[in-house]
Amino acid sequence: MAILEILKVPDPRLKQVSEPVSEFDDVLQAFIDDLEEARQDGPAAVGIAAPQVGMFKRIVIIDCSGTRKPVPNHGHLILVNPEITHWEGYEPGREGCLSVPDYTGNVIRATHIKLSALDRHGEPLEFEMEGYEARAAQHEIDHLDGMLFIDRVVSRRTDLFQRKVYQKGGKRKKG
Ligand code: NI
Repeated sequence: MAILEILKVPDPRLKQVSEPVSEFDDVLQAFIDDLEEARQDGPAAVGIAAPQVGMFKRIVIIDCSGTRKPVPNHGHLILVNPEITHWEGYEPGREGCLSVPDYTGNVIRATHIKLSALDRHGEPLEFEMEGYEARAAQHEIDHLDGMLFIDRVVSRRTDLFQRKVYQKGGKRKKG
């Protein structure tokens, strides 16, 4: 099937709050496979949330196992109805998002979290996460509440950075 389209700012649907999942049926399994395919399209994203493809259900996928510099992580995670139950420590870090293709930004997040969720079959999961993986989980769970990282930067003037795009036919600058 065709790869699901990613909603991008300023699409107002990105501000919608998603509903908890209650049915763990074949429809859900097929959707999760499609969501994973959308995550992996192009350069694979570290995470994706269901509302980014217009499905307003509380589902996220994160996978921090493939970062250039290895970070502590739990591998590939499908998290249904995820909830952060504990936050600790705060630090700024750079984030990007499939729904905000033109910018990255510095966002303050908890460095350590505890998280509970269900797996794709409705079985309970618990994780303690730190650093980059904790950041990815917080970023993706924000999507379920209609929040983007650009809503969390302290200052849009100093904490947002335009991505460098080489335009077709344009002159490339070195350095
Ligand atoms: Ni995002």
